[in-house]
Amino acid sequence: MCGIVGYIGNKQASEIIVDGLSKLEYRGYDSAGIAVVNDNDTINWAKKKGRLAGLEKILAENPIQGTVGIGHTRWATHGAPSDVNSHPHLNSAETLAVVHNGIIENYMQIREILTEEGYVFKSETDTEVAVHLIDKYYEGDLLAAARKAVSVFRGAYALGVVSSEHKGELVAVRKESPLIVGIGEGEYFIASDVPAILKYTRNVYYLENDEMVHVKDGVLTIYDGNNNVVEKELKTVEWDIEAASKGGFDHFMMKEIYDQPQAIRDTLLRRLDEEGMIHLDDIKLTKEDLEGITKMYIVACGTAYHAGLVGKFAIEKLAKVPVEVDIASEFRYSDPFIDEHTMLIVVSQSGETADTLAAMKLAKAKGARVLAITNVVGSSVAREAHDVFYTWAGPEIAVASTKAYTAQMIAFYMIALDFAYKKGAVIIERYQELIKNIEGLAAKVESILANKDAIEQYSKDMKDTHNAFYLGRGVDYTTAREAALKLKEISYIYTEAFAAGELKHGPIALIEEGTPVLCVVTQDALEEKMISNIKEVKARGAFVIAIAKEGNTEVAKVADDVIYIPVAEDLLMPVLAVIPTQLISYYVSIARGNDVDKPRNLAKSVTVE
Ligand code: F6R
Repeated sequence: MCGIVGYIGNKQASEIIVDGLSKLEYRGYDSAGIAVVNDNDTINWAKKKGRLAGLEKILAENPIQGTVGIGHTRWATHGAPSDVNSHPHLNSAETLAVVHNGIIENYMQIREILTEEGYVFKSETDTEVAVHLIDKYYEGDLLAAARKAVSVFRGAYALGVVSSEHKGELVAVRKESPLIVGIGEGEYFIASDVPAILKYTRNVYYLENDEMVHVKDGVLTIYDGNNNVVEKELKTVEWDIEAASKGGFDHFMMKEIYDQPQAIRDTLLRRLDEEGMIHLDDIKLTKEDLEGITKMYIVACGTAYHAGLVGKFAIEKLAKVPVEVDIASEFRYSDPFIDEHTMLIVVSQSGETADTLAAMKLAKAKGARVLAITNVVGSSVAREAHDVFYTWAGPEIAVASTKAYTAQMIAFYMIALDFAYKKGAVIIERYQELIKNIEGLAAKVESILANKDAIEQYSKDMKDTHNAFYLGRGVDYTTAREAALKLKEISYIYTEAFAAGELKHGPIALIEEGTPVLCVVTQDALEEKMISNIKEVKARGAFVIAIAKEGNTEVAKVADDVIYIPVAEDLLMPVLAVIPTQLISYYVSIARGNDVDKPRNLAKSVTVE
């Protein structure tokens, strides 16, 4: 988790690095630091617990000069957030500095050995072993020392290394944690993610596992894990820098909520040909491949897992294949039954979630065909999968996922429909109708957003509560789960979702006078049952806000309030029903004075187990 930025060139490194770190704070923001090799061949460094602003203040008072440097924004794994645990870490002579993202799993053993040899550790981090081990192996060649140290490490990491004895050099390595190299005019950048360097260059190399970067005297060389020089394809990043900024909204989350109609259109329309048929370019599955698949798993974490639950409904209904959905951290240790007739679909906005990546590797090793749904081109998940569906939601910066979720649901509808059609499980008329209906969702989301001020009013009912409950049945239960996750993660209100029919088996004991209960009621076949459940909680004093289709008068008779949303076919309703819940979560979070985009204890990209 953590973000790395490095620079080597002819400009002042400090400004570029700090600017880059500001774009990576979504990866972690409990401390930040920088180390720059200055003109006197010493390393100047600064690091501070807390947000980047703390580091910026130090640098404003004591600027650091030099054209080679590394920086870091941290999300603590080993050792609490503190100045001393912040990166960069330096050797005792302060001739070497290292920044690190990921976990060095065998750091305890390495630390013991180094301690016996006289190395003194200042921090509780795993990272500090890296700098001391490089120091130990250093015999005048920075690259060789780093290479030797890396060969000892187990785990997932990306490292950036500078040395005061090698002013014209920058070394970096990637293993399971993302790292890119940006190419400018006579300058090079390393970064955990593209937004950090987009202001300076669009030309990047995406590093593979074990690849090592060495910039020396203006020349970049990339080595593979066997120390062979590799020729990599330079990629041009198409994103606009505007796309990675707030676009006039107060917070990224609200911008991203508003990006959803576009995300739906981009994800869908760019894959339709002139006849309106779906073309999934990076999915090479043939009719025969699909006929050979007897079981599917969908595996993901958090919000992406909820998209997977919607995916199950779509695939089972349309493509008629049994689907199991699992949380990646459970799946990877559950000894799942997988053979060559199994397909695994992983869903990951970032494409870097450690558990999701491990789950897919496990399934691949057991012979499954692996399809990844991800938002990040060139991400680890995308590279590891046999087939890829890119959600074109654009960069998602707010920690709470919104537009990626919507785009993931659209991805599932398209995959389900494409598979169904290839297998002959759906007739062309239904195929065309469904595509039209999916396309129509974008305008319907716009109409819900146009009603946002009315939805804001509901935050008043919620903002002072200690707990809240979301209920639904069928695919509405999935929406309830996603809605509850969103509210709890940014408002810190204890929020739980229940399958409405399960309530009387225990959870109803939690309902008290005035407890807010949001009920999602969009499935025609389950409406009467939901109405009964609403009556049950009302009888125990709940304050019920329902989300229902326009024109539904029955729900209004039992709920205290109803948020009406446009009508779509039942299978597609999760895309519409989730929108008011995102807005409620946002407004409640604001009303409680929280940092909406960077909720406490969380990070955008969870690259550790
Ligand atoms: C919640 C949220 C998380 C992520 C989860 C998976 O709003 O964003 O629950 O959905 O950490 O992340 P990705 O999709 O990057 O694998």
